Amino acid sequence: MQAYDKKQLDAKIASSMPVDHPWHNDFHLEMPFGLINDPNGLSFHEGKYHIFMQWNPFGVEHKHKCWSHVETTDFLHYSLPVLALWPTDEHDANGCYSGCGFTEDGELKVLYTCNRREGKTRIPAQRIGTWNGAEIEKGAILIEKEPAGYGSHFRDPARYVKDGREYLLLGGQTADERGRALLYERHGEDAVFLGELRDFGYMWECPNMFSLAGREILLFSPQGLEAEERRYQNLYQSGYVVGELDENTCTYTHGAFEEIDFGFDFYAPQVFQREGRTILYGWMGMPERECEYPTAEYGWMHNLTMPRELTLKDGHIYSRPVREMEALRTGEMRKVEGKIEEVALYKKSEIHLKIPLNEQEKICVKLNYGKEQWCLHYDVQAHIMEIDRNAMELGGRGVRRFALRAEECLCIDAYIDKTAVELFFQDGYCAASFNVFPRSDEVQRLTVTAEHELAEGAAVVFELGGFQWSGK
Ligand code: FRU
Repeated sequence: MQAYDKKQLDAKIASSMPVDHPWHNDFHLEMPFGLINDPNGLSFHEGKYHIFMQWNPFGVEHKHKCWSHVETTDFLHYSLPVLALWPTDEHDANGCYSGCGFTEDGELKVLYTCNRREGKTRIPAQRIGTWNGAEIEKGAILIEKEPAGYGSHFRDPARYVKDGREYLLLGGQTADERGRALLYERHGEDAVFLGELRDFGYMWECPNMFSLAGREILLFSPQGLEAEERRYQNLYQSGYVVGELDENTCTYTHGAFEEIDFGFDFYAPQVFQREGRTILYGWMGMPERECEYPTAEYGWMHNLTMPRELTLKDGHIYSRPVREMEALRTGEMRKVEGKIEEVALYKKSEIHLKIPLNEQEKICVKLNYGKEQWCLHYDVQAHIMEIDRNAMELGGRGVRRFALRAEECLCIDAYIDKTAVELFFQDGYCAASFNVFPRSDEVQRLTVTAEHELAEGAAVVFELGGFQWSGK
């Protein structure tokens, strides 16, 4: 087994922070080296938000899965990341996979998937752990293996409590490879299998069940959906259904599956709730697309999204960065009232655009880094938004299209970090996350064009600073 030396890895992190490569993000969580993927163990405990994430400390491959940890009280000031959980015994020898976090008996507990392989056979177990302020102490195995009739892709436990009963939901598939979420009821160190939630795809990863505005939402990452003209354009998707779950009969009545983000780089989101807020983090990356991230050459890969607050309206989830992100503004800003044609940006910007549609048929918004650029093309008649990354030289390219209904104005809120871009359309009706790896350090410019003269709109651009890091 790979040797995991927490002391040495924590010291290496501390000496690499703050990171200063032009491609390292300043207000998106990431690690100074290695590869990260899913957000894990999201929780609020004793006055602090805890954010763990999947991390390979040794390289930019999907191997050696550990959890790293940061904590914050305000989503702006963070403790230095540390190694929190790593393979130590026969159960998790092949990786500490994703899981959830929650407070129980005054302690911060996690539940994660132990990945173990014997030859070609996987033996996934679900284990409890306790955060002791420095690392996760491993506890009992709660579920030893998948239930009979299911495949061994069985992982990513999520916990939710309803009517005083405690449930776990796991990602999985049937023996003949159809995607499922498997429901358990937990009684202390035991868990009883109740049944499955089913729909489509060949494997479901990272299920989350939570209530929002009185409805029960299943958010998950299905694999195996065919790309369509206006949706499912990534290799794997993340999205949700809204419904009602009867745990006693294991029947989930729900509406259609909708994607929660339409960008190129978004997967495996996790949600947690605190004081009436539902907050989501996603992984800005895509499995099996590592060649699209040129930071590999410098020894790190991927970042998380900003924390987003979710709200439900008319059966649809809106998402927006949590209000705490406003404190990233440095005080510098530019405002254009009237015709928006070109706006100079900051190195890191928050942009709010309102573009009147009037008689327009097509609107184009471009963001230039020197000669390189990405653009948004909005087809007003067909109600289609397209994101085009083809004019970037490095990293992933291509286009993504999705349905977007703008009535009088096209409203775009954009957050531009060094490589991470998060877009929110029509007050968060749709979100799109992606990374770009500009070669140029020139001042970024935003231009808005259309066939007919643009009517008066508004643009506000704030300069953004970055997260603050400190020891504990
Ligand atoms: C999703 C996922 C999870 C798994 C983890 C391993 O990206 O494949 O299903 O637990 O990543 O890193």
